[in-house]
Amino acid sequence: MNNTAKNILEVNLGPLKLDNPIIAASGTYGYGLEYTDFVDIAKIGGISVKGISLNPRIGNPEPRICETPSGMLNSIGLANVGFDVFVNEMMPRLRELGASVIVNTYGTSESEFAEIAKRFNDVEGIKALEVNISCPNVKSGGMHFGISGKPAAAVTAAVRKATNLPMIVKLSPEAADITEVARAVEDAGADSLSLINTLKGMSIDVNTRKPRLGVGFGGLSGPAIRPIAVRMVNQVFNAVKIPLIGMGGITSFRDVLEFFLAGASAVQIGTANFSNPQICTEIVDEFNNYCIKNNIVPSDLTGKVIL
Ligand code: SIN
Repeated sequence: MNNTAKNILEVNLGPLKLDNPIIAASGTYGYGLEYTDFVDIAKIGGISVKGISLNPRIGNPEPRICETPSGMLNSIGLANVGFDVFVNEMMPRLRELGASVIVNTYGTSESEFAEIAKRFNDVEGIKALEVNISCPNVKSGGMHFGISGKPAAAVTAAVRKATNLPMIVKLSPEAADITEVARAVEDAGADSLSLINTLKGMSIDVNTRKPRLGVGFGGLSGPAIRPIAVRMVNQVFNAVKIPLIGMGGITSFRDVLEFFLAGASAVQIGTANFSNPQICTEIVDEFNNYCIKNNIVPSDLTGKVIL
């Protein structure tokens, strides 16, 4: 395909149009505003903000983060400021800065997921909802909805009824069969899928003999999980028709290409933001140069692995 279009990195994820396919992953980029000293956040294709619930949440006891070989464990427990503070105090600034905001949402029941989705219908400047049915760190909601098709579809259908916004559903690698969940969610009305969230893990301090996280277990992210994520993106690509947003341990543009070849139409970058706050914008530039050099657009790469 020729690359004479105005913006060669522009992507369509169903009804969601982004200037480029690089998205900052929820939970690793705060509400976007925390990064404005380092980055022009309007340059990032999308910012998936920390999961928002109807009411504020304090999350799990500390410590909630620890480093592991080639990765990181977190047990945040979806701590967030809640709908009102996000909308009234953060959205005005995000709009002013021209950020492309994707709201990751969390509920403990189908009706709570639907309610928060409904409330976002009236908020100016929201590009899409990312329905989080895959957090491993909460006692209800989260991953409990995302590990099998039926509850995943029920949440998706409830949100679909409540929202006019493009709907991304974020999948869990803990599902017995992620393709079954992906198909169920597609049939229930999701516009696109993001995958994978973290894998459940544990790390123990051998001196104290205590877990290094306050609640014992947490979600593993970072390069350690990348081959699992790439495999799952490829499996889901072959199982559904809706577009995929791949994530899991991306630290370079090379990794982005790997996800595209497996089947992604866009990617999210998470853990790597902690060590390089400019990684998202750096990769946007690299992707742009790559497309110009090879006279392609990103969608030319999707699913093009040679098996
Ligand atoms: C958390 O807040 O515990 C992490 C969020 C997630 O894994 O979805």
